[in-house]
Amino acid sequence: MSSTLYPVDVEFGSLNEIHTAAMSTMSSELADYLEGGAGLEVTLDANRAAFTRHRILPEPMSGVQQPSLRTSVLGIELATPILTAPFGGDGLFHPDGHCAVATAAERSGTVDIVPEAGTHSYEHVRRVAPGGARIAQLHPFAHAAHNAERIVAAGYDAICVTVDSAIGGFRTRNMHNRFAPDLYAFSGNLTGLGEGDPSVAEVMSRLVHGGAQPWNWTQLAATARHFRLPWIAKGILTPAAAERALQAGAAALVVSNHGARQIDPAPASLDMLPAVRRAVGPEVPVLLDSGVRTGADVFLALALGADAVIIGRAAIYGLAAAGVTGVTGVLDLLTEELRVLMILSGAASIADITAERVLEVRP
Ligand SMILES: Cc1cc2nc3c(=O)[nH]c(=O)nc-3n(C[C@H](O)[C@H](O)[C@H](O)COP(=O)(O)O)c2cc1C
Repeated sequence: MSSTLYPVDVEFGSLNEIHTAAMSTMSSELADYLEGGAGLEVTLDANRAAFTRHRILPEPMSGVQQPSLRTSVLGIELATPILTAPFGGDGLFHPDGHCAVATAAERSGTVDIVPEAGTHSYEHVRRVAPGGARIAQLHPFAHAAHNAERIVAAGYDAICVTVDSAIGGFRTRNMHNRFAPDLYAFSGNLTGLGEGDPSVAEVMSRLVHGGAQPWNWTQLAATARHFRLPWIAKGILTPAAAERALQAGAAALVVSNHGARQIDPAPASLDMLPAVRRAVGPEVPVLLDSGVRTGADVFLALALGADAVIIGRAAIYGLAAAGVTGVTGVLDLLTEELRVLMILSGAASIADITAERVLEVRP
């Protein structure tokens, strides 16, 4: 039993505190790269607004005292339904980048999705934190088969394919700032790709500016057949895309608008989640990201159809603020808030967080 008035004993008491600490470590250009969305950032606001339109209903005297937060995604056991997102250029925020994020995930009993455009290689992150580095992300471009082989050889359990990024979104703040980060921070997996060995600058240019032979679903399905691991389609917003991804062989989906960094204005992820869940039925694992900042957000996403959520910026705030400790702090804060809400709302388990526990309020 904690001896303080607070339910958790963490170095940081709130995400706001972590956010402030994170911002103090970076230039305004880097902060813009992190915080910014595409276009006029309508979607950035919409992602948050969607969460604030929902309320959690109390269940007085439910008798729930020790809810179980355990769940699993594609057979990977999780102590909390919160994963950390693949984000490229991680070394811009902290030299340890995803090594720190995956270590924090491991400590919190969850999983990091290790990015292709990260600072450290898939192999290195997995060596540092084998319990946290369980899923690796790649882009469906010409080098996908090569990097998928590396992911399998390194011992990952699943591959996350980002399907919403045929070209980088029109990121207004980066253009305004002429943001030109050190490409080294993105280079962990982008060298030695075995296709005439393009430079990191070339690969990045193709990722950001398009022209990277973005595949259609048929091509992705043909390559993914050889992945030898289950794969997750990240960047699904519509029932139609969900169905195409499943037809192409995806074993799970991430309902995501890429943290509002691709199409603007795109719908909020949370707003599209119920329709995607209805379209794919109850069995397909569906994750959600974009705008998750609190334990209440996790509860709402689960209630509206997600099996788990992924945090992007919230994890990066922790990383920039204090490396492993910071990311662990964020995961613990969100998890603890979720636990408290489950008790107050009478949800005994993750599966017990259902739509009936939530009220949508119209503005
Ligand atoms: C700085 C940054 C870099 C990102 N890089 C990638 C990436 O390389 N690949 C990818 O699939 N998603 C990338 N994302 C998107 C995240 O995986 C995730 O979808 C998004 O951050 C979720 O929204 P949130 O930040 O509101 O939680 C990036 C996001 C940020 C903030």
